[in-house]
Amino acid sequence: MAEKPTILVVGGAGYIGSHACKALADAGYRPVVYDNLVLGHRWAVQWGPLVEGDTCDPAQLDAAFRQFSPQAVLHFAAYSNVGESVDDPAKYYRNNVLGTLNMLEAMRDHQVKQLVFSSTCSTYGEPQTMPIPDDHPQNPINPYGASKAMAERMMADFEVAHGLRFISLRYFNAAGADAAAEIGEDHQPETHLIPLVLEVALGLRPHISIFGTDYDTPDGTCLRDYIHVSDLADAHILGLRALERGASSGAYNLGNGRGFSVREVIDMAAKVTGCDIPVVEAPRRAGDPPILVANAAKAKAELGWKPQFNDLEVMIRTAWHWMRQHHRPA
Ligand SMILES: NC(=O)c1ccc[n+]([C@@H]2O[C@H](COP(=O)([O-])OP(=O)(O)OC[C@H]3O[C@@H](n4cnc5c(N)ncnc54)[C@H](O)[C@@H]3O)[C@@H](O)[C@H]2O)c1
Repeated sequence: MAEKPTILVVGGAGYIGSHACKALADAGYRPVVYDNLVLGHRWAVQWGPLVEGDTCDPAQLDAAFRQFSPQAVLHFAAYSNVGESVDDPAKYYRNNVLGTLNMLEAMRDHQVKQLVFSSTCSTYGEPQTMPIPDDHPQNPINPYGASKAMAERMMADFEVAHGLRFISLRYFNAAGADAAAEIGEDHQPETHLIPLVLEVALGLRPHISIFGTDYDTPDGTCLRDYIHVSDLADAHILGLRALERGASSGAYNLGNGRGFSVREVIDMAAKVTGCDIPVVEAPRRAGDPPILVANAAKAKAELGWKPQFNDLEVMIRTAWHWMRQHHRPA
């Protein structure tokens, strides 16, 4: 029997990376996770070996590439808390830019030429058109977005110099959990709306804060484009397959093209959980655009991406199923 192609999944012990590992295994690949576990979890690595290593350590990266000879890399490892990036930019440039540079150098040194990269809608900055197209100008307004835009720039430069080909996937808001609840979201501290609301439903938090209720939106709260984590994982497989077929490098938005307001998310969580969700109205946060919605037509047309879980209720239901199981007392 032919050996399964090995894919190095950098940051594969995290939320989206672990779902990508499951999708890789289902698609016939062997995922090898490279993660320093600063934010990820050992329990999330279930579909292949774990190498405990840091992208900021070139020698550890070199050893992993030498040991596993991956065919390609999926790169998820980053810090991604926007507010923290404003308070501590060095932490973000070191991990997200320097870490990615080290990884690109390891790929160059080991002749690995295919990369699927976790980028973000935060690289666009203030949207000038809505929904946001993939060719929207990139003018990030915080260090997190800037660090991801720089990583994309480095990848493009490595393509010219070293023949790297990359697919950069610009996610909007990842949500939900594996339908079988084998893995799910567990960020410490949690900053994402859906798990925070579900923590209120579980009694782990007293209330959910709504930051801004006077935006120019139908109910005054911000609208975001939620995309199920398993649909994101599938996009990585499609990106990898496109690179295997010889596709050129490119950047692709991943979202559902529909915005849900903070209040709609809270109301849906109340419906799914059957629990009251106390709300506290708070002032707007600086740098929160009122609406962020993706135009993901290019990913559908060029990668053949077809989101399966594009329903807010399904996203919240899968997250709730996972969270109740994950937080069940032992
Ligand atoms: N969650 C979202 O909604 C969202 C949206 C847009 C983009 N993204 C991007 O997707 C990627 C994954 O996001 P996530 O929500 O799964 O985050 P996560 O924090 O759950 O996963 C990141 C993983 O990378 C690891 N890591 C971080 N720095 C590392 C380093 N220096 N060396 C080795 N491992 C390191 C962490 O331990 C963790 O396991 C990130 O790059 C993030 O910026 C996420």
